[in-house]
Amino acid sequence: MPDEFETILTQELNSDGLLNEAKQYILNLSASKRVRPRFLFACGQLLEVPKSKLINLACAVELIHTASLLHDDIVDQTRVRRSSTSVNTKFGDGIALLAGDQLFSKAILILSDTDRAVDNLKAAAQTIYDMSNAAAFEVNQDVRLTNKQLLSIVDGKTGSLFVLCGKLAGLASNNDIAADKFASIGKLLGRIFQINDDIDDIKEDTKNKIQTIPRNFGVKIATNEAERFYDEMINVLSDYKNHKFYSEILSIVQIITRKNT
Ligand code: IPE
Ligand code: MG
Repeated sequence: MPDEFETILTQELNSDGLLNEAKQYILNLSASKRVRPRFLFACGQLLEVPKSKLINLACAVELIHTASLLHDDIVDQTRVRRSSTSVNTKFGDGIALLAGDQLFSKAILILSDTDRAVDNLKAAAQTIYDMSNAAAFEVNQDVRLTNKQLLSIVDGKTGSLFVLCGKLAGLASNNDIAADKFASIGKLLGRIFQINDDIDDIKEDTKNKIQTIPRNFGVKIATNEAERFYDEMINVLSDYKNHKFYSEILSIVQIITRKNT
């Protein structure tokens, strides 16, 4: 990611008024893999969007992602996040909840100041709505879920943010058809990313035994599904295979889907 991205993100996380108890901690926790900003950048590059526009959009997405992790860790009572004690464990659920609210608000403020602000905000609101809906559905699991239901949870909790990345990049290029195309690539990317994560969880035998595709239907079926989504995604992306930045986006989607090893 460009240095300006980290600078702006740190500025946002450091701004006055952000809860002092959590601020430094969130700054330390912000050492993430940045896969969503990287995907957004790669889409934007393919669509010839200026870098300066992409930086703000990518920051907004990473803030939404971080806020969602703060809230998710409260819901799941997670104690460790990004190899550190989670904010909820260190400062309590209240502080983690409020810090998450503040990061969501920061993202909204950034998006309010962009071209196509209304469309961008609408897309972000839809994502946050979908994420919370899926999270609520996930904690309410007293019956065995079908593959279709599990996939809709995956789409909501993980896919929706990758969808937002593709959509924001497309909207920034003022190309609504591309926005839909990159959103659909994001959806497939989110599915593969989450299925891989769920397969890891099975191997690690974690305490949090929520229903997932590999847990309910087996690792083999889950792996095959991820393969199918990957082929579908490469197919959608192939419209751009002669583009000078095609290899860049291919390399980031391969990192996200672990095809680079
Ligand atoms: C964690 O996302 C939540 C999932 C969707 C599995 P990441 O694995 O991208 O988390 P960070 O940002 O790199 O810590
Ligand atoms: Mg959860």
